[in-house]
Amino acid sequence: MDSLEIQALSDDAATVAMLAELLIGTVAAGGSVSFMHPLSAAAARDFWRKSLAAAARGERAVLGAWQGDALAGTVTLLLDFQPNQPHRAEIAKLMTGRDYRGRGVATRLMHAAEELAVQKGRTLLVLDTASEEGAAGLYEKLGFTLTGEIPDFALKPHGGLTGTLMYWKRIGRDRFP
Ligand SMILES: CC(C)(COP(=O)(O)OP(=O)(O)OC[C@H]1O[C@@H](n2cnc3c(N)ncnc32)[C@H](O)[C@@H]1OP(=O)(O)O)[C@@H](O)C(=O)NCCC(=O)NCCS
Repeated sequence: MDSLEIQALSDDAATVAMLAELLIGTVAAGGSVSFMHPLSAAAARDFWRKSLAAAARGERAVLGAWQGDALAGTVTLLLDFQPNQPHRAEIAKLMTGRDYRGRGVATRLMHAAEELAVQKGRTLLVLDTASEEGAAGLYEKLGFTLTGEIPDFALKPHGGLTGTLMYWKRIGRDRFP
């Protein structure tokens, strides 16, 4: 999608409403993004407001993929780690709206998140994804290495346990050999 624009998102009511809609739809469709179905609009908005407040403090970045005025997808880059892990960042809440899937939106968001992590001096990117209905194939295409699986890690949005797959990728220049 050539016209897609990736931007750090800010805490305005319209953006929070679009993020909430994306999260609710993803959870309803079985996406493993920390929440159970049905997710209320109030809980979804509360999650994003807190996440955007953390972003304003520099603890994370919440990126959005805009198609004109519509939010096609989002990804969060977690940056707030313990003092002995200043080189690490983590990917979370990667979601593409159902109408925009299969057109490279998540790939563009992941490239932008990785670029930002490198700009912040991070050299190791980690993430996990559900064993069932997760995005393992996408992450492997993006160069992430599978460490292993933890069984029965979390509940799926509609119930029943799923394992999680742990991935890592070295990025940028390794400043901490
Ligand atoms: C996973 C998700 C973000 C992918 O979004 P997308 O914008 O459709 O992804 P892209 O178009 O950039 O896909 C890039 C490539 O990854 C592949 N891919 C995408 N989703 C995949 C998945 N779930 N499993 C395996 N491969 C996947 C695509 O086939 C595509 O391959 P290609 O380049 O060979 O055609 C989207 O399906 C989604 O929001 N799912 C629900 C939420 C979720 O599971 N998020 C991950 C949480 S860890």
